[in-house]
Amino acid sequence: MSVPAIQLVDVGKRYGGLQAVDSVTLTVAPGERRVLIGPNGAGKTTLFHCVTGTVRATSGSIRLFDTEVTQLDEASRTQLGMGRTFQISNVFMDLTVVENVLLARLGKDRRKWTAYRPLRRYPQLHEAAAAGLEAVGLGARANDLVRLLSYGERRQLELALALATSPRVLFLDEPCAGLSPSERQLLSRLISALPRDITLMMIEHDMDVALALADRVTVLHRGRVMLEGSPDEVQADPEVREVYFGHV
Ligand SMILES: Nc1ncnc2c1ncn2[C@@H]1O[C@H](COP(=O)(O)OP(=O)(O)OP(=O)(O)O)[C@@H](O)[C@H]1O
Ligand SMILES: [Mg+2]
Repeated sequence: MSVPAIQLVDVGKRYGGLQAVDSVTLTVAPGERRVLIGPNGAGKTTLFHCVTGTVRATSGSIRLFDTEVTQLDEASRTQLGMGRTFQISNVFMDLTVVENVLLARLGKDRRKWTAYRPLRRYPQLHEAAAAGLEAVGLGARANDLVRLLSYGERRQLELALALATSPRVLFLDEPCAGLSPSERQLLSRLISALPRDITLMMIEHDMDVALALADRVTVLHRGRVMLEGSPDEVQADPEVREVYFGHV
């Protein structure tokens, strides 16, 4: 069997008296698309933060392929291939769309970066950035200022920024939240079309989006894994229906 892309063993995160993530053990195979669901406050975002290094787990171990990353900071985990969506607050509103993608790329690969050298003097990077924007449906917006983008287009840009770091594993926390039905449909189509060699872990409240995209689903409840299974198994489970949908 190949080395898992992500392996969590007994991962926990305590905030004062609250065990936000409680002894989570799970394994995600390379190339797998795993969706994490669960009610509000279940600990989904906290678990993501522990894995990407945004916060430090208070217990357990986290491996990315064959590397133990539990003690590494977020930047080191990014270097090793963990990608996540940037909050839109990390985006430079008065730079163009393509400039933002270039900065995300340069942020990861510091060797290629010389201070004050104009961005246009990196032609290969420019080409890669343009291709990345095509992949998220923003090819035509490359030279527009970010502040001119619609909310939905900013979400597409967040995806492009995450992809610009060439992640081996990509973490998406409710990428479609707050979008209109048509924007949601577009973004979930873009996510489905991502290369299969990128392992994907996604938190998603919209069950249609979640079940259409997932190879496997993990249900989190009160910080713990309640169930893991195929989309069909999870949907059919009476306990999940009770907890997650509020009815049986
Ligand atoms: N920085 C923090 N300090 C204290 N408590 C926190 C912190 N971050 C999260 N929590 C608590 O941890 C629990 C899990 O929160 P988390 O945001 O991970 O849930 P979630 O499953 O992502 O919920 P949602 O579906 O609403 O996004 C909640 O009770 C939350 O209040
Ligand atoms: Mg959350």
